[in-house]
Amino acid sequence: MTDLRLGYLGFEVRDLPAWEAFATDVLGLGVSGRGDDGSLGLRMDAQRQRFVLSEGPSDDLAFVGWEAPDDRTLDALVARLGGAGVAVTATRPEEAAARRVRRLCRLLDPAGIPLELFVGPEVPAEAFQSPHVRSGFVTGELGLGHLVLSAPDRDASLRFYQDLLGFRLSDRIVCEIYGYPVDIVFLHANRRHHSLALGDRQKKRLHHFMLEVGSMDDVGLACDRAVRKGVRLMQTLGKHPNDQMFSFYARTPSGFQFEFGWGGRKVDDASWQPTTYDHISEWGHHPPQFLAEGKIK
Ligand SMILES: [Fe+2]
Repeated sequence: MTDLRLGYLGFEVRDLPAWEAFATDVLGLGVSGRGDDGSLGLRMDAQRQRFVLSEGPSDDLAFVGWEAPDDRTLDALVARLGGAGVAVTATRPEEAAARRVRRLCRLLDPAGIPLELFVGPEVPAEAFQSPHVRSGFVTGELGLGHLVLSAPDRDASLRFYQDLLGFRLSDRIVCEIYGYPVDIVFLHANRRHHSLALGDRQKKRLHHFMLEVGSMDDVGLACDRAVRKGVRLMQTLGKHPNDQMFSFYARTPSGFQFEFGWGGRKVDDASWQPTTYDHISEWGHHPPQFLAEGKIK
C-alpha cells in the first residue's frame, strides 16, 4: 500500500493580481516567492510552496503534485506506471527546483491532467503563520487538502488511480441536487478521508479544491472574509455525510470553486468499509441564489 500526499497545485489564471489578493486576504495563504516566468508561489504551512499560479487563458488546474514518501517508493511507482504503458518523464534539476522539491517526474492521468510525482519538498527555516487562519491549516501526513476532478472516462481514471498509484476507495455519493444528477467517487491516499474525488465530465478539469483548518471558528471567519471581499458564495455552511467535513464553498477568481472546512474524518484501512450515500450533505450546503427565491429543499 502506497501512501501519497497531495503536495502542491498549479493553476493557470487569467487575473494574477486578483488571485494574489484572494489567496492572501480570503484564504489566508502567504506569498512565498515569484518564479523567473512571473509565476506566483504561495505557502500555507512549513512547506516552501503549496501553490504555483501562472498567468494564462485557461483559468483552470494546470498540474497536481503528489508527494511520495521516499525515493524508493517513487522508483517503484514509476516502474509500475511504465509497466502499464504510461509515459513518465524524468525532469531536469532546474524543473524540480522551480517546484521547490528535490526530484520530480511528470505524467498525464487518463483525463489528460498533468501530474507530478515528487519527493523532498523544500522546508525553509522560517516558520509560516497565516495572518488570518489562527488555528493553521491541517496538512502534514494528510497532504494539503483534496481535489474534485472531472473524469470523462471514470472507469479508466479509477483503474489508474487505484491500480497504479495506490489510491483506495472511500465511498461514493449518488443523488440529485436541485435537478442536477450527482455521482462522485471518493478516494483516499492516506488517512484523510479523500485526497481525490472523481466526478463526471465538467467544463473545467477542477470542480473544487478543499483546504482544512484547525478550528470551526476559522471556517466561519473565512466565510466572513469571503462575503466582505465580494467573493461569490456557492454553498452555505454545511456538513457532508461521508467525510463529515463542516465547510462552505465559494468561487475563486478563475470560476472553479474552493471548499474551506474543518473536522474531516480519518480513514483506517484495516477496518474501513466503503458505502454509497444517497445525499451529499447532512445539512446545509445550500446554493445562496435559491435562498432568496425560497427554493431551498
Ligand atoms: Fe470537497
